[in-house]
Amino acid sequence: MEKIDSMSDLIDSAVRTVQNISAELRPGLLDDLGLSAAIEWQTCEFWKKTGIRCELNLNLPEDFVLDQNIATAIYRIYQEALTNIVRHANATFMRISLKKEEENIILEIMDNGKGITMDQISNATSYGLTGIRERAYLLGGDVKILGFPGKGTSLTVKIPLRQMVDTTIGKYIKEKLFDINFRNRQTG
Ligand SMILES: Nc1ncnc2c1ncn2[C@@H]1O[C@H](COP(=O)(O)OP(=O)(O)OP(=O)(O)O)[C@@H](O)[C@H]1O
Ligand SMILES: [Mg+2]
Repeated sequence: MEKIDSMSDLIDSAVRTVQNISAELRPGLLDDLGLSAAIEWQTCEFWKKTGIRCELNLNLPEDFVLDQNIATAIYRIYQEALTNIVRHANATFMRISLKKEEENIILEIMDNGKGITMDQISNATSYGLTGIRERAYLLGGDVKILGFPGKGTSLTVKIPLRQMVDTTIGKYIKEKLFDINFRNRQTG
């Protein structure tokens, strides 16, 4: 009996792991609401939970249909940026802008906290910023991070709307990243 219990615990936790991963890769909310509304919802939650005041500027065209890979990447990048702000910035205010400029989608997040340092920006072993960069690079985009000591941090992500073909090497990297994420999660 005990053995069966522990087996089902194991299965439960395996199922949860997979659910968490797919929730992260493609948040249901995002599919249902679209990127702008999902970001709006996330921002309200963030403000409520942290008390950090948020100014949100959503400027995507009304009838804009965004590629799901781009939407997912932007949403995940945004979530990591929020996590960083609450964990590290010591900010009281942040400003977010989401817009389309020429053939790019641009997400800008600025906080009024202590400001990220050069060392922290270029530290290749930190996980969150590396993840942000990888998501952007895989879609042919780029990331700019600036820190102003005592004044705040800004993070700008630019992703081209016209995607390069999904090359074999691109697919390979995606699979590898997925493997690494999966293994990290399993080993804690
Ligand atoms: N908005 C911010 N304001 C001030 N410092 C920041 C900000 N965002 C990141 N940092 C600094 O940059 C470092 C690297 O961030 P990164 O997200 O890569 O790692 P982390 O948050 O420490 O850990 P995790 O792997 O859980 O994300 C942080 O440890 C923090 O010192
Ligand atoms: Mg982080």
